[in-house]
Amino acid sequence: MKSTRKGSFPMTVQVSFSGDYRSLVTPETSQKINAISEAMNARTSAGAEFLGWKNWPSEIDSQLVERIQKTAEKIQQQADVLVVIGIGGSYLGAKAVLEALRQPFQVTEKVEIIFAGHLVSGAYLKNLLTYLDTKEVAVNVISKSGKTTEPAIAFRFIQDYMEKRYGQEAAERIYVTTDAEKGALLDVAKEKDYARFVVPDDIGGRYSVLTSVGLLPIAAAGHSIDHLLAGAKRAEGELATVDLEENPAIQYALVRDHLYSTGYPVEISAIFEERLKFVQEWWKQLVGESEGKQGKGIFPASVQYSTDLHSLGQYVQDGKRMLFETFLKVASVEDDITMQLAENDSDELNYLAGKTLHTVNDAVQQATAEAHLSGGVPLVTLEIPDLSEDTIGYLLYFYMISCAYSAYLLEINPFDQPGVEEYKVNMFRLLNKPGF
Ligand code: PA5
Repeated sequence: MKSTRKGSFPMTVQVSFSGDYRSLVTPETSQKINAISEAMNARTSAGAEFLGWKNWPSEIDSQLVERIQKTAEKIQQQADVLVVIGIGGSYLGAKAVLEALRQPFQVTEKVEIIFAGHLVSGAYLKNLLTYLDTKEVAVNVISKSGKTTEPAIAFRFIQDYMEKRYGQEAAERIYVTTDAEKGALLDVAKEKDYARFVVPDDIGGRYSVLTSVGLLPIAAAGHSIDHLLAGAKRAEGELATVDLEENPAIQYALVRDHLYSTGYPVEISAIFEERLKFVQEWWKQLVGESEGKQGKGIFPASVQYSTDLHSLGQYVQDGKRMLFETFLKVASVEDDITMQLAENDSDELNYLAGKTLHTVNDAVQQATAEAHLSGGVPLVTLEIPDLSEDTIGYLLYFYMISCAYSAYLLEINPFDQPGVEEYKVNMFRLLNKPGF
């Protein structure tokens, strides 16, 4: 059974499911969804103090958007490269949007955005610093807590580099995005008088892409944050309904919950346009940290097809049956190319003559869906119309609200991440941090 919602604007997410979707819509599920929605709206659900992202697109202060835009223009004037330092939710949102909007092999960004602090690699940082020598540089360091080790290490090196290279002018080129009131990064920003942006108190890292955390790097690159926010705002309006027929985010949550409870604990996101690879990475963090708690939760994985059809495809088709697959399809692409007739047909591809590669890619999708379904892999399909700022804004909000419903269906607080702490404590002990 197929559940489809079509909008009039060019941003639509359609959810279709290979099983019997109708059977999931019962008085009991409707009641559960109503209760979750009411609790979120009344701010009484678990972790409700972190629900600030829910109405953010419609409530964002236009003066903040203007300030971000102005700062982005300043960065464009002063720098060739913006080094964005952050990890997890302070990194993946901007990375996801930038990659999704980037046409392959085209450098359309007004400033090159380079990420740092999302890994601890001496080779990465050393080579980055060498690369920066040939460019004009600005820095945006992002950390909500202001004390995360990996970005703090990267910032120590890059701040030192900026001060040696630019002297007092370094302070004009460093932008800090952090909590309004606490954290070591805030102290540094105040001491050095860096321009500051705030991560709202009531929005956790993985839900922060539409705040200054994501918007400043995205705007600096030259993309329209107005369009991104407009897409998210439209999603906020459309996905507020608890009418299951009308709300694809709830449909997706219900399908996932059903699959999870019937023996499919692993969800593989599959894409056919490589530009969406970091949307998958962002989604994996969103789901992994929101749902993976108390011995529960769907494990989010990702594949890029056709590449992985010749790699993980074997396992998906034929390995242990615990997987369901979610295709993230793009209905139309800006650029395409058509197969031509070859005179001698020595590669035996003339049967494709006249077809665009998007059409061939459609056949890959259809063929994969049929194969994996017959191999016992349930299929969910999300279809977006294009890869524009509006659509990506819509999609990000769609994933966030759907993830909140999914976690609440599992009776889990979507907004904490207690499991992330353990490795940190071990690392501090191993590195002899005082007190550990
Ligand atoms: O979603 C989250 O809250 C985390 O993944 C954080 O974004 C991540 O740990 C980075 O934290 P911070 O922004 O405090 O440096």
